[in-house]
Amino acid sequence: MAAMPGLARVALAVLVLFSALPASLSDDLNSDAQALQGLRSAVGRSALPSWNNSTPTCQWDGVSCESGRVVELRLPGAGLIGTLPSGVLGNLTALRTLSLRYNALTGPIPDDLSRATELRALYLQHNSFSGEVPASLFTLKNLVRLDIAENKFSGEISPDFNKLNRLGSLLLESNDFSGEIPKLDLPTLEQFNVSYNKLNGSIPTKLRKMPKDSFLGTTLCGGPLGLCPGETAPTPAGAPGSQPDAGGVADVAGSKKKKLSGGAIAGIAIGCVFGVLLLLALLFFLCRKRSSKARSTAAVEKGHDLGMAQLDAEPKGQNGSAAGNGVHAGAAAGAVPAAASAAAVAAAAAAAKSGGSTGGTKKLIYFGPMAVAPPFDLEDLLRASAEVLGKGAFGTAYKAVMESGAAVAVKRLKDVDLPEPEFRERIAAIGAVQHELVVPLRAYYFSKDEKLLVYDYMSMGSLSALLHGNRASGRTPLDWETRSAIALAAARGVAHIHSTGPTASHGNIKSSNVLLTKNYEARVSDHGLPTLVGPSFSPTRVSGYRAPEVTDIRRVSQKADVYSFGVLLLELLTGKAPTHAVVNEEGLDLPRWVQSVVREEWTAEVFDQELLRYQSVEEEMVQLLQLAIDCSAQHPDRRPTMSDAAARIDEIRRSSSDRQATESAGGDREGDEPSL
Ligand SMILES: *[C@@H]1O[C@H](CO)[C@@H](O)[C@H](O)[C@H]1NC(C)=O
Ligand SMILES: *[C@@H]1O[C@H](CO)[C@@H](O)[C@H](O)[C@H]1NC(C)=O
Ligand SMILES: *[C@@H]1O[C@H](CO)[C@@H](O)[C@H](O)[C@H]1NC(C)=O
Ligand SMILES: *[C@@H]1O[C@H](CO)[C@@H](O)[C@H](O)[C@H]1NC(C)=O
Repeated sequence: MAAMPGLARVALAVLVLFSALPASLSDDLNSDAQALQGLRSAVGRSALPSWNNSTPTCQWDGVSCESGRVVELRLPGAGLIGTLPSGVLGNLTALRTLSLRYNALTGPIPDDLSRATELRALYLQHNSFSGEVPASLFTLKNLVRLDIAENKFSGEISPDFNKLNRLGSLLLESNDFSGEIPKLDLPTLEQFNVSYNKLNGSIPTKLRKMPKDSFLGTTLCGGPLGLCPGETAPTPAGAPGSQPDAGGVADVAGSKKKKLSGGAIAGIAIGCVFGVLLLLALLFFLCRKRSSKARSTAAVEKGHDLGMAQLDAEPKGQNGSAAGNGVHAGAAAGAVPAAASAAAVAAAAAAAKSGGSTGGTKKLIYFGPMAVAPPFDLEDLLRASAEVLGKGAFGTAYKAVMESGAAVAVKRLKDVDLPEPEFRERIAAIGAVQHELVVPLRAYYFSKDEKLLVYDYMSMGSLSALLHGNRASGRTPLDWETRSAIALAAARGVAHIHSTGPTASHGNIKSSNVLLTKNYEARVSDHGLPTLVGPSFSPTRVSGYRAPEVTDIRRVSQKADVYSFGVLLLELLTGKAPTHAVVNEEGLDLPRWVQSVVREEWTAEVFDQELLRYQSVEEEMVQLLQLAIDCSAQHPDRRPTMSDAAARIDEIRRSSSDRQATESAGGDREGDEPSL
């Protein structure tokens, strides 16, 4: 009995607690799921296949949860069509971010959206919403970003926008708003755009600090657009917008692109603790790698010695031994390694057969230092065990481990129908590029039916694999230092290729052609391959790296290389592959995607989550992003040269290391937006 009062008190406490909670918190994931299904059946019937009962709600495309509630719904370009119904989005009472941009939504914004009181970011741009902005929207006091640009909203811009006093960006451009801009006074407003609306009159004082292109395509006056007629001598019937810029009043801020959101900063802060742990893990990992590199370098050198010994024992130029016969005087004669994959054996056999038929040409032609003392010959290659590394547009790559233990990468070209002299001339140009940041072409083999290219084998694989390979299984995150170093090395490698002649280009820059050494140093590989294929070559699909002006992949200009490099930078920063399907089966146009996100959302949202763990480099990340955007400009003339790009990356990296040095003493920054 004595326990009763205590128990009652606990029960009471629970009751009080529950009744003290706002009604919204009694909603749960089930009601969220129900609301999402309501949305799907209204506007996304055929669009959202993953939204089914066999998949947990929080794993549906575009849905993010926290503490058992849906907090983010992002369906950009998801093919939503129709009018948003009432009683759906408003039921997502824990929602903080709602992005429905780039869809075909029509009609008004439903009134009940005001029930989603936690909303901080609302992106509805690029739809066909119409009507006035509902008054209920102005009760969403937590809104920081509001983007309803490129719709058909009409009516006057309401002075009630002043109620949203936490707004950092308010984007209303390309709608049918008319009349004058009310006296908006939003203390934290950084990004404001009312361009291309039917607005007239004078820009209110507090908005005059905004840049001129916040007010394009209007007949407004004042501030950046020059003095209003009334402010000087009256000019009857004069169009104020057509007056020349007074200039003196203009105070072009233009710094918005460098801003990270408060949310992101808070996220970074949280990630920072994590980041330190991961950094330690990475250091540990790198140290281990370094010692293993020393070991394997020794092994490779030993391997080369062995190869040379074999060559001495049996001079080159010997004919008549087909693969499989394995006639060789070496110690391990005749031993075709059991590990050899069927494909590689076939490749080797084909190579040997055709080589045999053309007699004296059956040998590898070497480039660079190896030409002086070739460490292996075709025979060694043919008897090597091989595994497929990957299939590309120009052929299949194998890793070949020779009996000596030395490994090389062999690329077996397909679709080469160039006449022999032309092939030899072009490949000589490729082989002539010997640079520390370019994976050297060591040798090649040419016969009528078979073309083999021999490169150094890079054991850490490609940047593509590193960026996109098994993210889930607790891999080492790629930090800023590593990523920016990779960017710099790749830029310098390509810049070197460009420096070899005015038309010299890499031709196929992509993350799978940036290979990594054991220390995660980047090397550019596979340069010039497009010049080797014949006119009959037609790639099966357009790569996400190809510059818009490229029509013939055999003739890729240096500026087109710069475009591809820009896409590569974007990939490094966003962690997204340009060919990765997001919404539909088509590839992702990474430059466009990034530009839409940067223009319409927080810049921070484009970055790879792994990168955001590193707090002190946000400015440098944004600068690199800007460079990436410059490189991937649609017009070739707007792109920098490769050596300019390399110089800019170098600068950015310098400033990040300076900053890290000075900031290690400073404290954390404070965000303007709580993350919860
Ligand atoms: C939204 O919530 C209301 C009650 O709060 C409920 O009647 C309605 O069915 C819900 N809508 C959806 C689509 O779940
Ligand atoms: C449910 O969604 C998953 C993807 O999340 C998909 O693989 C599966 O085919 C879907 N099931 C049905 C019945 O549509
Ligand atoms: C703006 O245009 C409207 C008509 O579209 C007109 O009635 C109003 O007087 C104009 N205001 C100014 C300040 O020019
Ligand atoms: C405002 O939007 C217009 C149209 O999209 C654009 O050209 C302009 O650059 C934007 N201005 C700012 C400051 O973002």
